[in-house]
Amino acid sequence: MLTIAVIGLGSRGIHYADLSLHRGGVSFTALCDINPEKIHNAVAALGDSHVRTFTEEDVFFAAGKLADVLYICTQDRDHFRQAMKGLELGYHILMEKPVSPNPAECIAIAEKAEEKNLHAFVCHVLRYSGFYRRIKEVLEEKLLGDIMLIRHNEHIGYWHYAHSYVRGNWRREEETTPMLMAKCCHDMDLLYWWAGQKCESVSSLGGLSWFTPENAPEGAALYCKDCPHASVCPYNSADQYLPHDGQPPKFPWGTYALTPSREPGDIEKAALEGPYGRCVFHSDNDVCDHQTAQLRFGTGRQEIPVLFSVSAFSNKCFRDTHIFGTKGELWGNDDEETLMLQLFGEEPQTLSLHLAKAGSYGGGHVGGDSGLIGDVLDFLEGKDVPMERLTPIQETVESHLIVRACEESRKLDGKRVFVHGEEAGK
Ligand SMILES: NC(=O)c1ccc[n+]([C@@H]2O[C@H](COP(=O)([O-])OP(=O)(O)OC[C@H]3O[C@@H](n4cnc5c(N)ncnc54)[C@H](O)[C@@H]3O)[C@@H](O)[C@H]2O)c1
Repeated sequence: MLTIAVIGLGSRGIHYADLSLHRGGVSFTALCDINPEKIHNAVAALGDSHVRTFTEEDVFFAAGKLADVLYICTQDRDHFRQAMKGLELGYHILMEKPVSPNPAECIAIAEKAEEKNLHAFVCHVLRYSGFYRRIKEVLEEKLLGDIMLIRHNEHIGYWHYAHSYVRGNWRREEETTPMLMAKCCHDMDLLYWWAGQKCESVSSLGGLSWFTPENAPEGAALYCKDCPHASVCPYNSADQYLPHDGQPPKFPWGTYALTPSREPGDIEKAALEGPYGRCVFHSDNDVCDHQTAQLRFGTGRQEIPVLFSVSAFSNKCFRDTHIFGTKGELWGNDDEETLMLQLFGEEPQTLSLHLAKAGSYGGGHVGGDSGLIGDVLDFLEGKDVPMERLTPIQETVESHLIVRACEESRKLDGKRVFVHGEEAGK
């Protein structure tokens, strides 16, 4: 039976633990989180009071290797440090993205894993979803001929953006990563996977244009609970996070995102008086609320141009993709979970997703979360899962290099930047 340790018992850590339990054939031997309430909740969720628990990272690592696999689900700036310590001790690693704002740290983890003959997988969950795997299959089967253009857009959702990037964990670049790294290293990874070749150069524009004090309505208060505009503001924290006239809160991922406490009084306090109660125009956020990029994968005859956008300003949270080839088009969005194929001169056809050789369908990220856990645990158990189906750290480096180049370009007002250095682009 595979044994698992988890560091970071927030939404992702608990979710992966839960998916692993549902899959079965695993046992949790150690849990670590700096917040004792999160440990308490995790032990209750796992239903195992014998698991070893730690509230200090140093004590956890000093205890030696306690499991076959370590899930690293802490915040963005912790992953590198903890992955290096875990590999040193002999754990296989399953770590959250982004790995680090600095791609050199991805390379260091890859080298450490190779030195220790261990595996380090990154949670690029979209690669494990039936929807995205079907796109990859169509491209591999060359149904579209050669790819001439990819348009890919990420719509964050105004409520999700406000929660995560204005009031929450990913609002300040120096504490986490740029928005493009936090949100779109997934997209850069998908584009690299679909293109089947490295990104040569990028040009990117973007910034923070709306969630700033100068856009606050006149007389807006610092907290929604005191604001005269609250009843007409789509970001009103009470509407987002608290039930209303028998209706559930608008924010779909539950109030645990605000506080580990289950007490209604604590949740209300967090929603009204804590960081999530702040006016979205008066927070201390500095990450982009929109960004676009033109990317060029490969060069010459093999070149694949990509137009990418990400924006806070949408009702729903989803991605849409349109791929143009020499023989036809493929398009779809992961909210509706439909993929359409139309070869030139023929009628459009809806592709059936269940025919894809995908991981189990259902759950978060269009089935990607459960697909990831299923495939990675199968692989570590020695089942026949090809490495091309997985997302080892060595694959992740490219997505992080692309994001870094986009950020460099954005700060130079869209100047073309070579992803692998100017020499490589010549
Ligand atoms: N793969 C995906 O699609 C996806 C989606 C959302 C978030 N993420 C990433 O997953 C990671 C976790 O996100 P989350 O939403 O679960 O965050 P979270 O804040 O809910 O959870 C992080 C947990 O880590 C704990 N922690 C912080 N420092 C620690 C330390 N030194 N030692 C042990 N525990 C520590 C916190 O107390 C918290 O419980 C982030 O890096 C995030 O960017 C990935």
